[in-house]
Amino acid sequence: MPKKALMVKPDHFSVDYVINPHMEGNIGKVNKQMALKQWEAVRDAFSGTGLEMHVLDGVDGLPDMVFCANQSLPYINEDGDKEVVMSIMHSEHRKLEVAHIENWYVEQGYEIHHLNYKTISDFEGMGDALWHPGKRLLWGGYGFRSSLEAYEFITDTWKIPVIALKLSHPEFYHLDTCMCILNQDSVLIYPGAFTRKGLDLIHELFTNVIESDTYEAEKLFSCNATCPNGKDVIIQRGCTDTVKKLKDAGFNVTEVDTEEFLKSGGSVFCMKMLAW
Ligand code: ARG
Repeated sequence: MPKKALMVKPDHFSVDYVINPHMEGNIGKVNKQMALKQWEAVRDAFSGTGLEMHVLDGVDGLPDMVFCANQSLPYINEDGDKEVVMSIMHSEHRKLEVAHIENWYVEQGYEIHHLNYKTISDFEGMGDALWHPGKRLLWGGYGFRSSLEAYEFITDTWKIPVIALKLSHPEFYHLDTCMCILNQDSVLIYPGAFTRKGLDLIHELFTNVIESDTYEAEKLFSCNATCPNGKDVIIQRGCTDTVKKLKDAGFNVTEVDTEEFLKSGGSVFCMKMLAW
């Protein structure tokens, strides 16, 4: 289980461009004061689950850096050695974020891996790559922000199998928008974002598959929830149906408001990086 959570202050967060369908119509519409309040509540919710919080300042000109699930994929091996693969952001607007996040990993004693820009066009870290708790297994979304070749590198480097899932619904452009791994046996998904093959794989590896309805998945980012410890789930407020299903399955649920961040196509999961 990860011990640390990294977050980036929303001091420079805004919607300045459109790189996913949720951002459309929202340029200049972020209420910064509200965003800060919401970000603080998300931070407190994570810290309430026992995570050690690390916070970086935002950077002027990098309005999406606050979504710090995207610039890296950290890993720890059996001996406790910490390594990280740094992302190649799909959009030009976000490429400069990666170096800032990399500095933090250097301070934390991680071995840093860079993808080969010549052979891999993009990879957006834990936006698309999700660890399966309790197994040496990675779920990897591809199609919008990450390419398959990135997972070949990860498999070769860490000798870890990757289950690649093709994403083809533009509203669900990252795997973390349609799949929230809750613990070793349980997952929350939006089935409409996956292929038949992908769904079969999910059902094969998880005994408990909780499904979100379209409204909550698309408008409230229900599947962008986070379960950092296998029992406590932090989720956007208003996901009534999903919350009921989570509680029925025995999870504790904390609801937070990430409305300002939804304008940019992100919510709870995207706003932090879980690491060791
Ligand atoms: N505006 C950001 C983008 O489109 C949102 C990123 C949300 N992150 C996530 N992991 N889904 O890149």
